[in-house]
Amino acid sequence: MTTAYDWTGRIGDVWAEEWRRTDRSFTNLTPHLNAAILAAATPQTRKIIDIGCGAGATSLATAPALPNATVTGIDLSPTLIEIARHRSETQANASFECADITVAAPNHAPTDLYVSRHGVMFFADPIAAFTILAEAAAPDAGLVFSCFAERAVNRWATEIVTATGGDAHSPTSTTPGPFAFADPSHVATILEESGWHAATPQRIAFSYRAGEGTDPVADAVDYFCRIGPAASAIRDAAPGERERHIARLTQVCERYCDGDTVEFPAAAWIWTARKSAN
Ligand SMILES: C[S@@+](CC[C@H](N)C(=O)[O-])C[C@H]1O[C@@H](n2cnc3c(N)ncnc32)[C@H](O)[C@@H]1O
Repeated sequence: MTTAYDWTGRIGDVWAEEWRRTDRSFTNLTPHLNAAILAAATPQTRKIIDIGCGAGATSLATAPALPNATVTGIDLSPTLIEIARHRSETQANASFECADITVAAPNHAPTDLYVSRHGVMFFADPIAAFTILAEAAAPDAGLVFSCFAERAVNRWATEIVTATGGDAHSPTSTTPGPFAFADPSHVATILEESGWHAATPQRIAFSYRAGEGTDPVADAVDYFCRIGPAASAIRDAAPGERERHIARLTQVCERYCDGDTVEFPAAAWIWTARKSAN
């Protein structure tokens, strides 16, 4: 479970330190999400909110593509917001706010389009959160977000969990976290009950880029020691065990290394929906 407390604290800080490598991990997914966002925008789209914007990648892709709109990225983590602000200094129609989206959304009403790359799976009460978003949305507003599909096909997660002694085959649960929105029927119910209609998932198989450069295996191992489902197991391991975890992780990354990249099979959903008529 990843809580608001985690994002405002240590996990948010690690993501802020690692924003280039987290962005890179989504290299092969991001173009699909950005295309879906542009397809959902209309000539009337003026106010866009990027939910859980992190270091701002989606806001910074959307703002220049839709110059007649303003994009506000909202995130719980002050350190991620600081980076997003720094990256956006020359992008006049992008701004960033450190807040809980469920508190901040009403202040931005009416929003024409909500977007998010993997920022909506952490709500403690998703129906309540999406209801707040719908209530703060303009009539016929759009919603576009990505989230991971089931854990079993996301080999970047299962392989590294297995390598570090965890149970990679525990069933995907709806507990807030990276795989909370893996089940499309669960998400469809949330959206329907919170005031969103025409909810449609598009499944995207992609390669999760964990490492690259002159020593892509070392890069990937270092990345997984910092972030993701094995990082805490490695960090908390007893002396000796830690070295064994890293040795097994290195073998896994070697298997998925091709030339100057380490890429793992992965899959995500890209959801689109529109606000229901009152
Ligand atoms: C997996 S990260 C994705 C970050 C960014 N969208 C990206 O693609 O790099 C999830 C982000 O959602 C943010 N988040 C989670 N719950 C939130 C909430 N209730 N309000 C605002 N941000 C939230 C976290 O702080 C975190 O930065």
